[in-house]
Amino acid sequence: MKNASLYNKAKEVLQNNWRAGFSIPCAKLYPFQWFWDSGLIAIGFAHFDMQKAEQEIKTLLDAQWGNGFIPHIIFHTESDTYFPGPDFHRSDLHPQSSKKYRSTGMTQPPVTGFVLEEIYRISKDKEATLKFIEDLIDKVYFNHDYFYRHRDPENEGLVYIYHNWESGTDNSPIWDDIWDTMNPPEYTFERRDTTHVDASERPSKREYDHYLYIIDIAKEHNYSDEKIAELSPFLIQDPLFNAMLIKSNESLLTLYELIGNNEAKISQLKQWQEKAINAFNKKLYDEDLGAYVHYDLRNKRPLRFLSSSSFAPLFANIPGKERADNMIKVMMNKFGKESQYLCASFDPDSERFNPKKYWRGPVWINLNWMLFDGLNRYGYTDIAERVKSDSIEIIDKNGFYEYFDSRKEVHKAGNAGYGGNNFSWSAALLIDLLEKN
Ligand code: GLC
Repeated sequence: MKNASLYNKAKEVLQNNWRAGFSIPCAKLYPFQWFWDSGLIAIGFAHFDMQKAEQEIKTLLDAQWGNGFIPHIIFHTESDTYFPGPDFHRSDLHPQSSKKYRSTGMTQPPVTGFVLEEIYRISKDKEATLKFIEDLIDKVYFNHDYFYRHRDPENEGLVYIYHNWESGTDNSPIWDDIWDTMNPPEYTFERRDTTHVDASERPSKREYDHYLYIIDIAKEHNYSDEKIAELSPFLIQDPLFNAMLIKSNESLLTLYELIGNNEAKISQLKQWQEKAINAFNKKLYDEDLGAYVHYDLRNKRPLRFLSSSSFAPLFANIPGKERADNMIKVMMNKFGKESQYLCASFDPDSERFNPKKYWRGPVWINLNWMLFDGLNRYGYTDIAERVKSDSIEIIDKNGFYEYFDSRKEVHKAGNAGYGGNNFSWSAALLIDLLEKN
């Protein structure tokens, strides 16, 4: 295989980040288990250690709450390298939270459904893998049921997130408009992230005040979904998050069909799916921008910005062919210039673009991995190949970083990888991309 040494380095990253039954995203900066990291990491493991891939998912689902909710961080161990930890989040306030694990009281993009299908696709022993899936697929279904029961107050088929950390795109410039509507207190706390990573690559102190304040409001109401829907200053329908749910619905449908004897769930999934895709196409598509945008449910307005989340619906087969053609044109005009690696996390032409700062511009491998698949799905194999070779190139030049500068010119010296190094999903998804020859 081409790139054998890169492949082996990626395996090493995953092996080193493996703990007792789960993986950390990266040492020091993220010392626990994160929801969507965990799913994406399992895809990498599935190529060379199926047992670990399965264990990763089992551990994640073991932390599910009595109402079907799955938390964004599961604090398996005590660690003083991370803030805010379990004592701040206080998941125990929710009456149905896990008694076994401490966690946060917020969630993350629901990738587990499509991860199970990916693991099945990769598996060389389909029968054994289907048995594994059969044993836990109902937990994933129950998680989707939670979303539709508790996160869709207007019964539209689109679910909300109540915190920017739920989006996975923590400090995206999209949220700037929400911060403008809030005036949180100044918190006194000791940041830990900036002791591991240069502060210029991380969110600011004032941004953190907003993040903590939203959690405090949720805690005041014991993480009640109904109260959060009523009161949280942050209430967003996010195209990335909803695309993940839709993609996972589709995978659950496929897997239940394979397993057989699940007619009621299949029919419910089809209903969710039809409603969700319709609403998504009606409400989240912005004709003028030519791509999907976020909707601010609290302030009843679309947040009209292009980001890598705008194109994630390609991965979930949401746009029709004509719309997809248009979106890809827009993407190539703005994000696909020769001077840029695909795909910046935020509109490179915007004043808010910052190619070094976390989700305000840099390239992330997980979004690229989705884009690669989405572009192929709509027949754009050449652009998909560019996304893949860009991803391989930036990792090869810099290492398995968390995120990368989108400007080609700054990559000459090999120090344009930012955030944590030896980052798990960069390694896991590189393995998957290399296998997709
Ligand atoms: C950061 C990212 C988030 C990720 C987490 C752990 O918070 O924004 O998407 O899940 O780190 O890697």
